[in-house]
Amino acid sequence: MKSIEDTHRGAPGRRRSRDLQASAAELLKSLNMIVGLDQLLEILCARMREIFCSGTVTISLFDPITRRYAGMMARGLDAQSAALFGFFESNPLVRWLNVNQSLLNVRVDRGVFEFLSPEEKLVLETHRVALVVPLIALNRLTGMLFLSDKEDGTGYTRAEIDILLMLAGQASFAVENAVMTQFQEERLKKLFHADKLATVGELAAGAAHEIRNPLTSIRSTVQFLKKDLPPEKHGYVEGVIEEVDRIDGIIRGLLSLSKSSELHLSRVDLREALQQTLLLLDPELKRNRIAVNQEMRIGDPTVEADQAQVKQVFLNVLLNSVQSMPGGGTITVHLADRPDGKREESIDSVRVTLSDNGPGMPEETIRRVFDPFFTTKENGTGLGLSITYGIVHGHGGEIDIASKTDPSSHGTSVTIRLPRKAKKLMSEV
Ligand SMILES: Nc1ncnc2c1ncn2[C@@H]1O[C@H](COP(=O)(O)OP(=O)(O)OP(=O)(O)O)[C@@H](O)[C@H]1O
Ligand SMILES: [Mg+2]
Repeated sequence: MKSIEDTHRGAPGRRRSRDLQASAAELLKSLNMIVGLDQLLEILCARMREIFCSGTVTISLFDPITRRYAGMMARGLDAQSAALFGFFESNPLVRWLNVNQSLLNVRVDRGVFEFLSPEEKLVLETHRVALVVPLIALNRLTGMLFLSDKEDGTGYTRAEIDILLMLAGQASFAVENAVMTQFQEERLKKLFHADKLATVGELAAGAAHEIRNPLTSIRSTVQFLKKDLPPEKHGYVEGVIEEVDRIDGIIRGLLSLSKSSELHLSRVDLREALQQTLLLLDPELKRNRIAVNQEMRIGDPTVEADQAQVKQVFLNVLLNSVQSMPGGGTITVHLADRPDGKREESIDSVRVTLSDNGPGMPEETIRRVFDPFFTTKENGTGLGLSITYGIVHGHGGEIDIASKTDPSSHGTSVTIRLPRKAKKLMSEV
């Protein structure tokens, strides 16, 4: 890095250096006060761009689920271009930063630049990236900071690079903290949710018996009265019976939220369960002109589970997809036996992803989809996904929903992970 341009010698240079230090100190102070990850990344990008007069600043962070560094935030660049700053652990750039744990000055370290892959070079060149700064926490490369050439066309000075490195060091810790906080919050939310479901389930279990008895007598009484009515009035009775059955269905749904619903475990072939569920839905799929893409070739598609409950899960999720695409669309059913990289997935499990290209859901809906009785449908009970959540967690599995409403790419994707051995059995061994 000997040839770094040092144009700021003398009085103006000293002034610039003092300003730099003051701005850096101010940024450092504010870093400690920000808790949210998005806000932190936003401030980092914006302030770094101002302080160093960079054309663009982009931050990529490691995502332990996809085991990829993904472009998370940028200033001076649109979101689509920022997404191009995505790299795998095996990429030469990532490997070099991991080993050297030092800044890459693209304009100076040409040898290193030449060693990068053609895709990496293209991203760096297209966006005129001059500096790549590693974000290191606990000796791990947790992210990368990309600064493009300066807006005035001058090179980065030694003083600027020193301050940048100091800021990056502190920023790494702040980012790592924010990531951990977000992770904890998500866990707490899930715990809170599981608790809420169990409470609703217990309440329902108590009330169900009381409601079902009179319901049964209403049903049989109107059925009995039907024969005394003229045929043109039979429709009224059937209407009442239909409504009674609907109430009964809701109660059954509520009951399955209860923690105590017992699992009848057997070896379940998930591919078969999915195919049977699709067969059940066939008339609905045809009526709505929905095509199904099956990507289900895995070595062992079986898990230990309650067969009826697993089918119920698939039915609830697929039905939502069908209902979201009255004008036609595509559903993709994907099975994978080695889920990628998630930490807790040392537990052997099978992952099922059910995706549609329907309209997707806005953020407020995604947040509430698992809440009992949350529905946006005129005739929905809002229990489908709460029941699904209860069943998946009852098996020691996990369920996640991702949804997009962009006009150019929209749809919903539900990922269900089921352990090969249901939790109940695992604790027995
Ligand atoms: N694939 C999807 N596409 C768009 N929105 C969805 C999708 N899946 C779920 N939703 C949204 O989530 C809400 C809750 O879904 P959930 O299955 O729990 O209840 P519901 O479908 O409304 O009623 P029920 O399943 O009890 O008949 C839906 O009303 C809908 O707004
Ligand atoms: Mg539903």
